[in-house]
Amino acid sequence: MSNSSIGIFDSGVGGTSIWREIHKLLPHENTIYLADSKNAPYGPKGKEKITELSIKNTDLLLQKGCKLIVVACNTATTNSIRYLRENYDVPFIGIEPAIKPAALQTKSNTIGILATKGTLSSELFHKTTDLYASGVNVIEQVGEGLVPLIENGAIDSPEMEKLLKQYLAPMIAENIDYLVLGCSHYPYLIPKLQTLLPKHVTIIDSGIAVAKQTQAILAQHKLCASNTNVGDCIFYSNGKPEILRDILKDDFTVEALNF
Ligand code: DGL
Repeated sequence: MSNSSIGIFDSGVGGTSIWREIHKLLPHENTIYLADSKNAPYGPKGKEKITELSIKNTDLLLQKGCKLIVVACNTATTNSIRYLRENYDVPFIGIEPAIKPAALQTKSNTIGILATKGTLSSELFHKTTDLYASGVNVIEQVGEGLVPLIENGAIDSPEMEKLLKQYLAPMIAENIDYLVLGCSHYPYLIPKLQTLLPKHVTIIDSGIAVAKQTQAILAQHKLCASNTNVGDCIFYSNGKPEILRDILKDDFTVEALNF
């Protein structure tokens, strides 16, 4: 049993969509969240740079005594989780686009995936797609520009709507019935996406699966918090803390930190 914190990092505010599911499922766990907004977006950066940033975030979370790290960023997971697992002793949980459930359930045999360039070009993503979706028509789309808009608090802006319409058009034309959100920032776009997609399209993200995997790995390593602990949640941002506060909506402590 351990009341040390679960450490969570992302290139910015998006990974709070994962934190939310973890906090809902594991309310007794303390969490520390790092929003590396200063370095967002990670998507267009190369594997080496993404790994360097993941190491920096991991080191800071470990300095703060975290017992397990959740890489709440598809781009960081697909490019650097292997390195992290090989070089640190704590358990790591990653997030990957939920290709498998979409490929298993599609009726039109066509699914869409919206993710960053870093994720879609990664070896891990290609392996997963080959393994689970080889007979399925997978329409890949880089969501260029979406993360910077979310990081600037422009979720409901006309620019966002214009980009989303542009990115969804080829998917709608090919009759997708599942849209996989392959970036932890994108769940914040779900209300907008629902207005732009035909009603029969199901949107899938990986938040709940990551929370369940976190629960399982904590139990496996005997690292669960005691059920009398009141989960304390701390958020650090090296960008604009007010954007993170806005995304969280509730009354959580968000601190500015230079990392
Ligand atoms: N939240 C990150 C992800 O899941 C965003 C990547 C970025 O910063 O471009 O991929």
